[in-house]
Amino acid sequence: MPESAKAVLVVGDQRVELPILVGTHGERAIDISRLRELSGLVTYDPSLANTAITQSAITYIDGDQGILRYRGIPIEQFTEKPNFIEVAYLLIFGHLPNKTELSQFSEALTENELLHEGLTQQFYHIPLDAPPMAILSAMLSQLACYHQEFLKVEDPESFLAVAARLISKVRTIAAFSYRRSQGLPFIYPDPHLRYCANFLHMMFSLPYKQYIVTPEIEDALNLVFILHADHEQNCSTMTVRTVGSAKANLFASCAAGVSALWGPLHGGANVEVIQMLERIYQGGMSAEECIAAAKDKSNPFRLYGFGHRIYKNYDPRAKILKQACERVFANLQHKDPLLDIARKLEELALADPYFIERKLYPNVDFYSGILLRAMGIPTNMFTVCFAIGRLPGWIAQWKEQHDNPESRIIRPRQLYIGLVEEKYVPLAERQTSQRIF
Ligand code: SDX
Repeated sequence: MPESAKAVLVVGDQRVELPILVGTHGERAIDISRLRELSGLVTYDPSLANTAITQSAITYIDGDQGILRYRGIPIEQFTEKPNFIEVAYLLIFGHLPNKTELSQFSEALTENELLHEGLTQQFYHIPLDAPPMAILSAMLSQLACYHQEFLKVEDPESFLAVAARLISKVRTIAAFSYRRSQGLPFIYPDPHLRYCANFLHMMFSLPYKQYIVTPEIEDALNLVFILHADHEQNCSTMTVRTVGSAKANLFASCAAGVSALWGPLHGGANVEVIQMLERIYQGGMSAEECIAAAKDKSNPFRLYGFGHRIYKNYDPRAKILKQACERVFANLQHKDPLLDIARKLEELALADPYFIERKLYPNVDFYSGILLRAMGIPTNMFTVCFAIGRLPGWIAQWKEQHDNPESRIIRPRQLYIGLVEEKYVPLAERQTSQRIF
């Protein structure tokens, strides 16, 4: 192995040579897949910040340059005429669809937009104030009950069928959960509407008044979904891969992804951002106090929508979303004081040494909620919208792993630091305040 193609690990008198893998853009990885076999050692990287868990051809991020590309195409190139469904197809099948492929995929989505009435009935047994992400995860998992023919996908046709069911029905589930929470009747999907217009129709139409989407809002929602569509091995995608690695079905894998995305450090941040901005707007705290609280180590508060594990530069999605806010607001003569507060917070943070030293910039969640608000989408539905956008990415990543014959169940090792060996103590002999650790 040439010197440049290997790493040498020396531990005591042990010397282990490990191959180095090189990615498309020259990034390098030490292949430790045989480390334990060759050395008896494992590596320790609890948040996997230094560990590539797969080789993937779907999404490329350069965190220092603020670059994001889907199948090699920079996301900026999707902004002119945003079409979420063609980007979903690109991510899942690896190429932009031609006219026939796009119309077949769109047709598959239309044919699968309804929910089984048994599933629809279940909404009536959910509390009105149930968290929408809990409903979404449960309902996606329930799809496995109504589409048992797709618990195993072993051919391209059945894979496309299950992907279409998920991508199409996720909108209906999201809209129905909103309607239920408002005590409104369900508005069924309209087969003549495009993906995003149909979602907004199901969310906002009334039996006596059809919701008519404006081109600006339809483009803005396509853009929001596109910008959330994939982001390589983030927490929720890693969850989908982990569940899928056990050969669990795609419904269960994506339902697990929804649960991971719900976390306020991940997709739940877009809700936290709006609540943070509203607190400032209502006078609960000033922008300066917000920044100070985020810097205060004794305070668990963070500046939500700021910082990123990969981006140590401005998240390119945040840049596009900020521009989209300004464009949509101008076109619709819409005003939202929260946008001014967000701009002020960004200005304060980007000038503050604490954020500069840590390379903390706005991420995708900082402006996304402001744009969703402009569409009338309630705050508690923001992370659900993130999930609708991210679903094609989860499906693409699940498929890439599923189609790889070398894929194995994901099962990391650990470093045990517990007790050496203890004797079982019968209940009668145990002390009342016996503590193990
Ligand atoms: C998403 O992974 C993805 O790709 C995710 C995502 C996707 O598309 O899937 O991009 C979507 O989840 C975006 C992130 C949304 N979350 C937030 O906005 C929550 C606020 N951000 C932080 O919690 C944090 O920045 C994370 C969770 C995003 C990243 O966490 P890391 O990589 O573990 O960074 P860290 O917590 O180790 O922070 C490094 C330092 C720490 O300070 P020190 O210990 O060095 O003194 O920066 C500080 C942190 O305290 N820090 C922040 C901060 N983010 C990091 N301090 C205040 N406010 C923040 N927002």
